[in-house]
Amino acid sequence: MRILAIETSCDDTSAALVVARGQNTKVLGQVTASQIPIHRRFGGVVPEVAARAHAESIVPTIQELFAQCGYDAAKSMKKPPIDAIAVTCGPGLVTSLWVGVIAAKLLAAEWGVPVYGVNHMIGHLFSATVEHGAPEFPALGLIVSGGHTELVWCKSARHLKKIGATRDDAAGEAFDKFGKLLGLSYPAGPEIADLAKRGKKNSVPFPRPMLTDPSYDFSFAGLKTAGRTWILAQEKITPTMRANACASYEAAIVEVLVAKTMRAVKEFKPKTILLGGGVAANELLRAELTRALAGEKITLLLPEKKYTTDNAAMIAVAAMRTGNLFKQPWRKLAANPSFEIQ
Ligand code: KG4
Ligand code: ZN
Repeated sequence: MRILAIETSCDDTSAALVVARGQNTKVLGQVTASQIPIHRRFGGVVPEVAARAHAESIVPTIQELFAQCGYDAAKSMKKPPIDAIAVTCGPGLVTSLWVGVIAAKLLAAEWGVPVYGVNHMIGHLFSATVEHGAPEFPALGLIVSGGHTELVWCKSARHLKKIGATRDDAAGEAFDKFGKLLGLSYPAGPEIADLAKRGKKNSVPFPRPMLTDPSYDFSFAGLKTAGRTWILAQEKITPTMRANACASYEAAIVEVLVAKTMRAVKEFKPKTILLGGGVAANELLRAELTRALAGEKITLLLPEKKYTTDNAAMIAVAAMRTGNLFKQPWRKLAANPSFEIQ
């Protein structure tokens, strides 16, 4: 089965062609038009600007994907080499989501192929399984993106339960907002991680919010405030001070994420840990999770870097792993900005 996936939930227009044999998936191609340079001058994503950019690039992105996979792009738009379409329906920015959803509706109606309206978070959840077979269940997912921080218990690919989530800012948001105050460009996560490599983790005593709270919830607003307070208290911030602050800030976020995940590991005893979301690209998080799980009989699946930030391949893989969960008539397909894992 060949599936064309479309992802436009935020600021990346992405299309991918994924082939599946049973639960084994392989990416034939993926094209992503990033809008980061467009939004950078605003310091964050501007929804109307994002929707317009998606509208401009959605068709060329799909055509480029067909060409990348070795198909004649013009012929493929008439007679596509696919069996189904998967599209992100939510959560995300409503105006961005609708662009991908309308494209999927039109193509599904025209081509007469089934369509899957996929939950974006479930895409991130399975992003570490792109180009693999199904993970061993039960699994525990840690999803850390710009908009979400969630722990998800997966009895199977179709039986998911959110056991914890952020009560305010997401981990990625905490990186981005601290970076903005430091004068870094959007999105600041990668640059903070880069600066942190030259800094000392223990130099600024940033708080570890909710670390000892018995729930599996997170909170990063207090850390963000502590970051702002630290910046305002300095007369001048030298490159060394900046690197030290970034290292301390990153360490605080990672420590909380790993501690909560390990607490859930002890209680739920999963066979697999699935890491996903933009912050899953963070080297310290990957290293600390690996270290914490050493000695445990648990498989840690880390996504390839190209599948950490928003991408269409993970949407196709989520559609395939969850069977018919998201399959629906194209007429019913609609953007659902608050489409959360329950
Ligand atoms: O999953 P994603 O592309 O978008 C959402 O669905 O939200 O995640 C983007 C987030 C941004 O906040 C970005 O700063 C963060 O992922 N990010 C990182 C790193 N790479 C991306 N945060 C920390 N370290 C990184 N290396
Ligand atoms: Zn995302």
